[in-house]
Formats: sequence, C-alpha cells, structure tokens
Amino acid sequence: MTTLIYDIGTLVNVRQAHTLLYGKNLALLPCIHNAFLIVEDGRITDYGRMEDLFFPVTDFTFHYSAEGRCILPSYCDSHTHLVFAGSREDEFVDKIKGLSYSEIAAKGGGILNSARKLQETSEEFLYQQSYKRLQEIIRTGTGAVEIKSGYGLTVEDELKMLKVIRRLKESSPIPVRSTFLGAHALPEKYKDNREGYIQLIIEEMLPRVSKEGLADYIDVFCEKGFYTPEETKKICRAGKEFGLKPKIHANQLYASGGVQAGVELNAVSVDHLESMDDDAIVSLAHSNTIGTLLPTAAFFLRMPYQPARKLIDSNCAIALASDFNPGSSPSGNMNFVVAISCIQMRMLPEEAINASTLNGAYAMELQDEVGSISKGKRANLVMTVPVPSIQYLPYSFGSNLIEKVMVNGEFI
Ligand code: NIG
Ligand code: FE
Repeated sequence: MTTLIYDIGTLVNVRQAHTLLYGKNLALLPCIHNAFLIVEDGRITDYGRMEDLFFPVTDFTFHYSAEGRCILPSYCDSHTHLVFAGSREDEFVDKIKGLSYSEIAAKGGGILNSARKLQETSEEFLYQQSYKRLQEIIRTGTGAVEIKSGYGLTVEDELKMLKVIRRLKESSPIPVRSTFLGAHALPEKYKDNREGYIQLIIEEMLPRVSKEGLADYIDVFCEKGFYTPEETKKICRAGKEFGLKPKIHANQLYASGGVQAGVELNAVSVDHLESMDDDAIVSLAHSNTIGTLLPTAAFFLRMPYQPARKLIDSNCAIALASDFNPGSSPSGNMNFVVAISCIQMRMLPEEAINASTLNGAYAMELQDEVGSISKGKRANLVMTVPVPSIQYLPYSFGSNLIEKVMVNGEFI
C-alpha cells in the first residue's frame, strides 16, 4: 500500500543520517519547502521537492494534497507516568491555597495518595483509564511514549502497573517503552525501614520484573526526602544486572546530586532538572547522558523553570517530555510542552521541535524508528492546519494547530 502526500508547505525535520543533537546543532532544523512524502507499509520510503516528483499523483494508491500545510515527525514523549488511577484535583486546590509539594507529600498526599488509589483499582480498570490517556496523547501528536510504574509500591501492585504498560504496548499503534520505578516514594509501611524497602525492590521486585520481561529501563526518584544518590546508585546498579538501563528523576526540587549519580551510572537520561547548580551542569555536559526537561511540571508546581539556555549553551544534550502524571503534570500535550519551552525557557522553536522529536527518540533509544522524517522510519507524523511558519506553532500556544495525525502510515 503506497500513499503519496503532495503539496506539503513545509516538511519539517528531514534527515537521512542523524546523531543526538546538542549545542548549536539543536537549532538546526532541516526542512523542505513545497515537498512530497511517500509512505509504504507504514514507513517513510521517499520525500523530496515537488518539482522532483516525476510520477503523476494518480499513480499512487492513495494520494492526499496537504494544500500547503506543514508536516512534522510526531512527538517522542520520553517521560510519562500515564498509568495512574483516578486524579488528584483536591491537592491541586491545596496547592492553590499555598501548600508546597513537600507539605502535601508529608500529609500522605502526593505519590502515596496515587499509590493508595492504584492499589484499590483492578488491572482491567487501570488499563481502561490508561488506554484512554494513550489515545488522547496520540490525537494531540505523540508518536512514541515512555511510561513508568511507581504508583504500585508493593510487589504485586508494581507488577500490576507494569502488566498494564505491557498491555498498552501490545494494543498501542505507537511504540511504548516501559520503565520500572519501584523507588518512587517510600511506602508508609516502610517509613522506619528504608533498607527493608530497598531490599524488597532489589531482591523481590527486580527479579520478577526481569523474569516476566516487563521493563526496558529502571528509574529512581533521586531527591531530598525520597531516595539519596547512594541509594539511587545501589538500586540502579542492581537494575543493570538485570539488563535495565537507568533513566532517573534528578534535581527536581533541590540540587541533590541526582544528575551526578545518573552520569556516574551512565544513565540514558536524567529527567526534570529544575534545580541545577554549576557542578550538575558541568557533569551533564561531559557525559553521554541526555537531560530531559519537563517544563510543564515546573509550570504546574509553580517552580523555577529548567535552565534550558544554560544547558544548551554548555553543550548538554537535552530532550523535552511531558511528565504526564496526576500530581505534577496532569497533561500529556506535547504542543504545550513545546510552547512553554519557548515562552518560559527561551528555547528557539527549532530547538524545542528537535528536543521533543529526535532527541526524545534518543532518550527512549528509538532513534532508528521515530523522531525525524527519514527513509525507513515509521510514518508517525502530524499535519498542521495552515500556518504562516513553523515558529507560529509555539507562538500561537493554546490553539489546536494539529489538523491530522498519521500513525504507521494511516491518518487516524
Ligand atoms: O515526575 N517527581 C516525581 N514524580 C512525579 C510526580 C509524581 C506525583 O506527584 O504523583 C514527577 O513529577
Ligand atoms: Fe516524572
């Protein structure tokens, strides 16, 4: 089955060969104006300028005129917690009234609140709620996603979450990567026995997660009041023994050594980075680890934004992700993530598009599959409404500028 899309105003992020983007290269966004794109069996097989399309459009089984609209690779959202039970708008109101994230956590709210809800929810109902969220993010332009456990916090409930993620992987038309986050918070039962819970993660959870092939990565919430850098390293090293590479929560609330721990572990990514000091920036800049910025979490929690400019100018490789979760970012809309990155973090639109597509793909090790318009990659694409330029996308934040989404070569 061959599909031709022709009269594309701008075909965005077109690359045959590519590497992870950092420094000045992050602002280079290769585009073809007045372009065509050919898709066969769900994959991109060709593209070029309209004047180089030598066949009549009617030669193709399916042919669509884009009538001057833009086509981009779908977003690659490399950090979400989209499997969760219920919602936490009561805490949202507490925050409006002035309670801090840590105060809410200390009241038994926060992650432990979601854990209680999840423990009381059946696997089937959890799957149904999560499947709806997955459908929603696909409609808003996400073409590959990472999903974490971490609201189970018991052996059976962590496995339940990971099984839901596995079912999503099986039913999802877009690639799904799975991350085991048993060390997301300390369960109430272990509040005087940290060692006991860490032992449970390492000796009981990890072997079962591995035996059932339930995760691709391991994550720890490395933060004051959660897990120390030393504990993070211990848990991630145990995960590595089971073949799980680290992708960790670091430097969200404080500069608490998470970035350095991630770099030492050779983590695929260190994520959040609201609280960066010079030492953390230098450490990240001299590493192969990607810094994944989650600006909507900073927005929602009214925290300082990630120092994106400083990170880019220091040559750190950065990606952008939504952190979709019920506590700190109850939205998986990557259009908003891109807009807020430009508006609040002073990223250029080109940088934000690269960081949320190709670099996001690298942060899930899916760079050969998604993240750019490249021959052989999946045709997971977004088509915009008519826009005057690419810069218009983050500028006109809040408007729905996506007219159509293509997944595996089919418009949905
Ligand atoms: O990435 N920081 C840790 N975990 C989530 C928030 C979890 C929650 O509040 O439910 C995050 O922001
Ligand atoms: Fe997170």
